[in-house]
Amino acid sequence: MKITCIGAGYVGGPTMAMIANKCPDIEVTVVDVNEARIAAWNDPDLSKLPVFEPQLDEVVAEARGRNLFFSTEVDTAIREADIIFISVNTPTKTYGAGAGQAADLKWVERCARQIAELVEKDIIIVEKSTVPIRTAAMIKSVLRAVGKGDRVKVLSNPEFLAEGTAVADLSNPDRVLIGGEDETAIETLVSVYAHWVPREKILTTNLWSSELSKLTANAFLAQRVSSINSISALCEETGADVNEVARAVGTDSRIGPKFLKASVGFGGSCFQKDILNLTYLCDYFGLPEVANYWKSVIELNDWQKGRFAQKIIATLFNTIAEKKIGILGFAFKKNTNDTRESAAISVCRDLLIERAHLAIYDPQVSLDQIIRDLEGVGISDAAERAANGEITKVASPLEAAESAHALAVLTEWDEFTSLPYQEIFDHMLKPACLFDGRNILDAKAATEVGFEIYSIGRGRSLDGEWQVR
Ligand code: UDX
Ligand code: ADP
Repeated sequence: MKITCIGAGYVGGPTMAMIANKCPDIEVTVVDVNEARIAAWNDPDLSKLPVFEPQLDEVVAEARGRNLFFSTEVDTAIREADIIFISVNTPTKTYGAGAGQAADLKWVERCARQIAELVEKDIIIVEKSTVPIRTAAMIKSVLRAVGKGDRVKVLSNPEFLAEGTAVADLSNPDRVLIGGEDETAIETLVSVYAHWVPREKILTTNLWSSELSKLTANAFLAQRVSSINSISALCEETGADVNEVARAVGTDSRIGPKFLKASVGFGGSCFQKDILNLTYLCDYFGLPEVANYWKSVIELNDWQKGRFAQKIIATLFNTIAEKKIGILGFAFKKNTNDTRESAAISVCRDLLIERAHLAIYDPQVSLDQIIRDLEGVGISDAAERAANGEITKVASPLEAAESAHALAVLTEWDEFTSLPYQEIFDHMLKPACLFDGRNILDAKAATEVGFEIYSIGRGRSLDGEWQVR
């Protein structure tokens, strides 16, 4: 059997590497139009893979060249495939009807047209990218229009991996979801996953349930983060500690302990995009109340990001122009080099609007990426500011702290849990402030060396001091 995957990004690359790794009898080819990306996937130096994921290098190393291939020869790979996964980007539309809300399906449609032109045998097309409901119908129509509708079966197989834990999620998934109409096609795809996933974890549904389940799962997860973040604000006002509240709430087995970590706001390529997508569908189908319910999850998240930036500005006496602020973490979460929708982007934007100077430390994100992200949110002179030394990428938290007024933790990288507080404090201007957007610093130790610390969701005690425990 031959599998082709179109799109060698965060979803396509790791997923196909795992399939190839677990299924030596299947030949897997991942194609992409982006030559640099394919070259990086083929780089003999495994530290250069375009996606940073713990243990991904090992998974790739075992299969690459054996039954896993990365190529730019899209047409050939389409012609030869028995199963084609579509893993191309589906960002939020930036133009026309549904701009800022609906998913932009132009890359998916382009793939469907390309397949329609080239395919000469019976194949299965699998939607892997997160798509709006009824995208499968669009793919089918494109193929039907050239008389190939009967040759092709379309399945939905959304990916639930989370970045940073992709390898663990792929090798031991909570479930694999396959939606479709054709039993034989479904069974073929089930047999691929059954190489390593227990059958009872492979759920099969109809096409539309599968497509909607992916949007719903992400909406529920994002809602949990917004829920705890909403409570974090109340904790700060009342003197409660959001970690303690989360623990108390999460021990109710009906609620569960996971995904209750208050933060500076959720990011990533999926949550916001999928909720916007969901609300667009609700509006389209005349369900404005449902749309508004889900919109509030994003509104709360935007508010939380803005609230954090305002806290920094207010604490630094409402004037941060030309003050150096160290930023610890720029990725949207730890263990990834992905910055899409990272809360760090909007916090940094708010600080830069006030003309702060930022020294950014992130173990995986490049300065070029940071500049592109800031330009994308309206800091059009980001490159110029970087050239002037007003936005710098530094090599360590200590360097970020050098002569800084404040440090702000925006990503929960493990290394930030054991910072040398005394040394950092000694290098900073006074008063030295710490803003913990992830609740991972040792607030007690930091306070003892003299820091003024603000942690998301931790209120003041009766005598007005920040609660540090
Ligand atoms: C998410 C879904 O988890 C995954 O199933 C889906 O396939 C893709 O979208 P991902 O975006 O990679 O995965 O990361 P996730 O771990 O879900 O985190 C999303 C954001 O929420 C991050 O910014 C993270 O820091 C934040 N978050 C998560 C919190 O702020 N608190 C939490 O308790 C959990
Ligand atoms: P995701 O996070 O969903 O994996 P990415 O943006 O990381 O999204 O990856 C999508 C990849 O799909 C990109 O590398 C892009 O170049 C590729 N791509 C988009 N359209 C096509 C196409 N028609 N043929 C081949 N590759 C494509």
